[in-house]
Amino acid sequence: MLGAIARSLLVSCCAWAQGGSSITYRNVSPRVGYVGSTSCAGSACHEDICHSYAQTPMGRSMAPANTPSELAKVPKRITIFKPELNRHFEVFRQGSDIYQSECELDESGQTVFKSTHRLDYVVGAGLTGYTYLFRRGQWFFEAPLSYYSENNQWDLSPGYEGKDIGFTRSVNVICLSCHNGQPEPVPKRDGMYRSLLSGSAKTRSVANAATALASCTSKK
Ligand code: HEC
Repeated sequence: MLGAIARSLLVSCCAWAQGGSSITYRNVSPRVGYVGSTSCAGSACHEDICHSYAQTPMGRSMAPANTPSELAKVPKRITIFKPELNRHFEVFRQGSDIYQSECELDESGQTVFKSTHRLDYVVGAGLTGYTYLFRRGQWFFEAPLSYYSENNQWDLSPGYEGKDIGFTRSVNVICLSCHNGQPEPVPKRDGMYRSLLSGSAKTRSVANAATALASCTSKK
């Protein structure tokens, strides 16, 4: 989605910048990578559209999990016990990141197991709430706790009630193609991606932005 918008904006950018009919749209070459929607504003062509789109729920539907507004949702360590699952959950900050953990204690209070993961992405614009994703190598999973806007509280993510899913639910491509724009899924491996727009792909996108914009605005 973001990719498509960014591309179409860059195409119109070229038309606007160059005018006339003998234009070669060098930025639509398959060799030109995704440039990121901020390039639309950075090119000084579509600043208004870029900023207004960024305010929409779609424009805010996925972001890194360690931005100041996310960190503010964890002013102190959050602990939640779910007796029906016999599991203890925590959300806590360490350095500039947010982590979630799940653990089981036996009758004497000894830890049976504990699993902890750093959160990498937040999904949702907050109309209902926010869910978190984390990455292990190339695999993307959902975290068990979500933040609900209605009462500003952390609780089990939708679908986790009554079932101990823990950190094992992989993130499918249907969700990410809308939330992330241009994920590169690995075929036949649900939850595995070669890249997303943020994270590893971000560097590539930023590097390509300069090239693509130069191609866009230079006359051939
Ligand atoms: C058609 C595009 C689209 C698809 C497909 C999609 N989402 Fe969303 N989703 C959105 C948008 C836009 C928002 C932001 C609006 C909002 O926060 O309600 C959102 C919000 C959310 C939220 C925040 C909750 C809320 O209502 O505020 C969660 C969690 C979520 N999506 C998870 C998923 C998962 C999991 C899938 C795959 C099963 C998925 N989405 C598929 C567009 C999509």
